[in-house]
Amino acid sequence: MDLTALHDIVHKSRDARRLQSIQKNTPAERDTLIKKYHPDHREQAYRPIKFGPNAGDQTVRELASILEGESPIPADLPLIPDYSVDVLVVGGGGAGCAAALHAHAEGANVLLATKLRLVDSNSVMAQGGMQIAVAPDDSPVQHFLDTLKGGHMKNDHALLKVMVEEGPTIAKWLIELGVLFDRDADGNLHVKKGGGSSKERLLTCSDYTGLEIMRVLKDEVLNQKIPLLEFAAALELLSDEHGNCTGAVLQDLDNKRLVIVAAKTVILATGGIGRLHIQGFPTSNHYGATGDGLAMAYRMGSPLVQIDTFQYHPSGGIYPEQLLGALVTEGIRSEGGHLVNGKGERFVNELDTRDVVSSSIIRECEEGRGVQVASGRVGVWLDTPLLDAEHGEGTLDKHFPAMVKQYERFNVDIRKDPVLIYPTLHYQNGGVKIDENSESPVKNLFVAGEASGGLHGRNRLMGNSLLDLMVFGKRAGLTAAARAKSDPQGSLSLAHLKDFRAEAKKHGVTDQITSPMVLPAYTRNP
Ligand code: FUM
Repeated sequence: MDLTALHDIVHKSRDARRLQSIQKNTPAERDTLIKKYHPDHREQAYRPIKFGPNAGDQTVRELASILEGESPIPADLPLIPDYSVDVLVVGGGGAGCAAALHAHAEGANVLLATKLRLVDSNSVMAQGGMQIAVAPDDSPVQHFLDTLKGGHMKNDHALLKVMVEEGPTIAKWLIELGVLFDRDADGNLHVKKGGGSSKERLLTCSDYTGLEIMRVLKDEVLNQKIPLLEFAAALELLSDEHGNCTGAVLQDLDNKRLVIVAAKTVILATGGIGRLHIQGFPTSNHYGATGDGLAMAYRMGSPLVQIDTFQYHPSGGIYPEQLLGALVTEGIRSEGGHLVNGKGERFVNELDTRDVVSSSIIRECEEGRGVQVASGRVGVWLDTPLLDAEHGEGTLDKHFPAMVKQYERFNVDIRKDPVLIYPTLHYQNGGVKIDENSESPVKNLFVAGEASGGLHGRNRLMGNSLLDLMVFGKRAGLTAAARAKSDPQGSLSLAHLKDFRAEAKKHGVTDQITSPMVLPAYTRNP
């Protein structure tokens, strides 16, 4: 497709747009916009969950199906442990690595199991940064208030207080481990502003913040010689006669053998659900983001919270087709990138919260002011060359090297031409209910990071996920290690699964999909 003529609309309108300022919508306007255009408000995409701890609650159909899904584990599986540990961590992303490192530092005997390779996760793909109140004019209180406002006041206050207050300690820990955050000419930590924030608060490593953090955490997990099982997918949890968690059944993905782990405590750090492609949306997420932890925790009786709300990041690629759904970091809008419709007009304050920006993009496209590409998809422009025009040549190369390369691979030069974007499924705002120590209502079952819920309310702010992972990964690791010192290993059974199956039958649910999904069907070999 020849986009040159279409690019011209953006190039020709640039100078006029640079002189124009754009107001944020009023609270009432934002509310109306979200209700009319945000995918969370498409009633037909939702249904009530038929049974289990969240029976009757509305969630998207794709998630309801995996929660009600059938376990691949036979009820009579012999439960002879292949491993016996204090702490089993499931998931090799940011929350999993942080949990394993802190539990190990407390002297616990830890096993880290991950269904792909260590670090294969959404964490390593994080681009824009990590919010921590370190600037002199900022404070954890301000961070708390911004996050609460961004989350439509629905955030769990206790969890949020912990996250913002522990941020500076986390920054110190990561720096001591070797994370190279961006600094200014005087050597002070450089902070940037994200959408919905009142202060510059994002710690960044160019536009590959997650990659840099995970480089260091991976090294540390390997240096500490924490026992690791890669290509080992968790399929089911184990429970004792009190319903407490006592381990898990894993599957070795190389030879399909089941592996029994007896664990005094289990930490689920299994990430999100982007790969369920809710409502047919493309996703920015890793291939492993299939919500396995949600399904397993739910079967054990752990309730989920805020599972009716998801984050559709405003800027997912729609062209070239190979980049469908891939993230174009909010950092570009934070540095002044304009969103421009097919008529060359700005239509939203680009630094409003993500739900507002995404709703505005969807409105433009639905009302005929979008730009259609050969695949039939419709999107709007993100004026990337504006950054070099505004801040000087070389800005994109210096601040967004990963983004420049991501597009260069497909012969698109984002320094010269704008890119086409549309909202992409990015994050689950809710998840498994946890307390301040990351423990779920099921004793000895901890959940950290995106698989947990409540912290972000109905809309997460940019950069709060990386902090969430580190704070609650740490708390889960420390608490699980302490618990393992005081409590004996419980017995191993699949009693909860028997109960779950009986419930399914009672509610006439018999045509279930197999859950956890482990990988989306389209990634499997025929
Ligand atoms: O746009 C981004 O770089 C995404 C950041 C985030 O979701 O925290």
